[in-house]
Amino acid sequence: MLVQVGRKGKGRNMWSGKKLGFIGGGNMGGALIKGVLKAGLLEPSSILVSDVSGERLEFLSAEFGVRTFKSNVDVVNNSDVVILAIKPQVMATVLEGIKGSVGDKHLLVSIMAGVKLATISSVLGKEVPMIRVMPNTPALVLEGASALACGSKATDEHRKLALSIFSAVGEVVEVEEKLLDAVTGLSGSGPAYILLVIEALTDGGVMAGLPRPTALKLALQTTLGAAKLMAETGLHSAALKDQITSPGGTTIYGLEVLESGGARGLFMRAVQTATKRSEELGKKG
Ligand SMILES: NC(=O)c1ccc[n+]([C@@H]2O[C@H](COP(=O)([O-])OP(=O)(O)OC[C@H]3O[C@@H](n4cnc5c(N)ncnc54)[C@H](OP(=O)(O)O)[C@@H]3O)[C@@H](O)[C@H]2O)c1
Repeated sequence: MLVQVGRKGKGRNMWSGKKLGFIGGGNMGGALIKGVLKAGLLEPSSILVSDVSGERLEFLSAEFGVRTFKSNVDVVNNSDVVILAIKPQVMATVLEGIKGSVGDKHLLVSIMAGVKLATISSVLGKEVPMIRVMPNTPALVLEGASALACGSKATDEHRKLALSIFSAVGEVVEVEEKLLDAVTGLSGSGPAYILLVIEALTDGGVMAGLPRPTALKLALQTTLGAAKLMAETGLHSAALKDQITSPGGTTIYGLEVLESGGARGLFMRAVQTATKRSEELGKKG
């Protein structure tokens, strides 16, 4: 299911009087703050952030006007929704520190890769309303692809609040928690696959005689353009491909090379193998 809420002030009403807290204001925390403000969901004064790095807090305060705290507990005590935007390695320490303050009046949203909701509940020693989200790096430029899975105590209102946050930094889909490994294999790792394609197309252009900056510009815009063409027309990829594949023309010759080299199968296997790896890492954690 593709959900589009939150962009350009939509969803602002449901946040009325609510406070959004971030534990960890690093790359992803910062991107979400930027998106939420850009979407007009909340005023900067309704966003609270804690981080171990004083320098990072100073930056976030100066850049976005949000309220900053050295203590994670202060953020929890003054927020309705708390996003855990810390690395999984510090999860246990952070949760131990806030477990006395977190309760049913909160919604905890975890973006920690590979950390199961059950693990969070087990460290907290109780089950509170929780939602787990897997975003990806294009969220940093507000073009992310996130997948969200609700915990058993999350209400429909909680779900809508979380959807509004992540649709402020791109697109959001909702899945069962067990499918988050597949999400990791596809959209989590996916930007790296597409970047590899852009690099390879650029090298191909250089091989064919184009100056590298020109080849890169063309490869980058072709990738952006093809994605936008498909997203905006809603047409099937095969129909769009057929439109540029004239009989005996250049494109069908290029496609034959990709198909006979197994490009399609390689991408499928990349997603499948990354999914399996995510499952393995989740078991270790
Ligand atoms: N970046 C992505 O594309 C992406 C995609 C999917 C999921 N995620 C998940 O998002 C989470 C955050 O990733 P990120 O890239 O934003 O990491 P990050 O840039 O390292 O941000 C984490 C922030 O938390 C701070 N921190 C460390 N210990 C803390 C503590 N005890 N209390 C409060 N803050 C603390 C860190 O400070 P120091 O740097 O000083 O330690 C840092 O500023 C991770 O769990 C990751 O798995 C990220």
